[in-house]
Amino acid sequence: MKRSKIIGVGSYVPPTIFTNHDLEKMMNTSDEWIVQRTGIKERRWVQDGESTSDLALHAANEAIKNAGISKEEIDMIIFATISPDHEFPGTGCFLQAKLNLPGIPAIDIRQQCSGFVYGLSIADSFIRTGQYKKILLIGAEVHSSGLNKTPEGRDISVLFGDGAGAVIVSECEVNDENKDPHIISTYLHADGSFAKELWICAPGTGVNKNNVRIDHSMLDQGLHFAYMNGKKVFTNAVKRMCEVTLKCLNNAKLKPNDVDLYLFHQANLRINEALAERLEIHPDKVFNTIHKYANTTAATIPIGMNDAVKAGKLKPGMLVGVAAFGSGFTWCSGLIRY
Ligand code: UT7
Repeated sequence: MKRSKIIGVGSYVPPTIFTNHDLEKMMNTSDEWIVQRTGIKERRWVQDGESTSDLALHAANEAIKNAGISKEEIDMIIFATISPDHEFPGTGCFLQAKLNLPGIPAIDIRQQCSGFVYGLSIADSFIRTGQYKKILLIGAEVHSSGLNKTPEGRDISVLFGDGAGAVIVSECEVNDENKDPHIISTYLHADGSFAKELWICAPGTGVNKNNVRIDHSMLDQGLHFAYMNGKKVFTNAVKRMCEVTLKCLNNAKLKPNDVDLYLFHQANLRINEALAERLEIHPDKVFNTIHKYANTTAATIPIGMNDAVKAGKLKPGMLVGVAAFGSGFTWCSGLIRY
């Protein structure tokens, strides 16, 4: 049966750093509060009006270069984002035009913080069917232009950063399951009964009272900014990421410490510490980036993957565990022989 593997990784974060001290000047917050509660020290926010597809283009070009392929070999784009360039068409179409790859399919998916692993699962499935051979999978976000950077918005605004990560997922042969690079498995879940615990209400057809998707009163109420029930998200994130990681490992007949490196979603350092404790894995097996980039939603895992490669922490042949949790609620895991 055809299998898939990651043959190249790329990432991009905008150059301008906003430290917690910079945020102290905008909203009633403190470096101490943010570090203690989240582990975040700084994040990148775009400054020159770059769009999500602009960031994605940088990440995609690096992934293509690192994969050692020509961009013309890419036969599909899967783009995960919750901060699209425009309402429609999908940001994958804008990226496809910027890459000058007319004709190939461009699928946008959402799935919030779970977007990259959902995308990996979709890419793996398409390749297993033989329909596509080299898929560009992107997670990219520009959150900064959608944050309420006033004291009223401090509970959310300090948590999110901008960035993009990309991988090339390629068809491959697997002769030795224990050695040859391939995507071993992915597990995807959602529970929409929690949808409003972390969401943006407007604009949308679900908010429609007067046959409009957004009006001045909705803007005045701040319905276009994210709302989050932080504690509920936190407890469910720890529980579900632990559960879905164990499911992935059990089905592969592996123990948590058999994995060489975990690339967990980065929403809160305390979530990942609690997860490492529950799984009884050494904290060094978890590669964290939250202190530098905050939460970059769908971009988080591929950005972490590229940073781990550059730091020499992720090497060919390693067994990598990925897991994420986010709005929806959605949660997911995967095992990759890198
Ligand atoms: O990517 C997927 C999703 N996101 C997550 O997984 C995030 C999950 N949740 C969390 O990470 C945490 O719940 C937060 C970091 C968001 C909040 O931490 P917490 O320990 O649950 O704090 P809290 O919401 O209980 O707030 C405690 C206090 C409140 O003040 P009072 O009522 O105790 O006086 C807040 O008003 O902290 C206050 N607060 C802030 N203070 C300074 C809230 N935001 C801030 C802030 N700076 N930015």
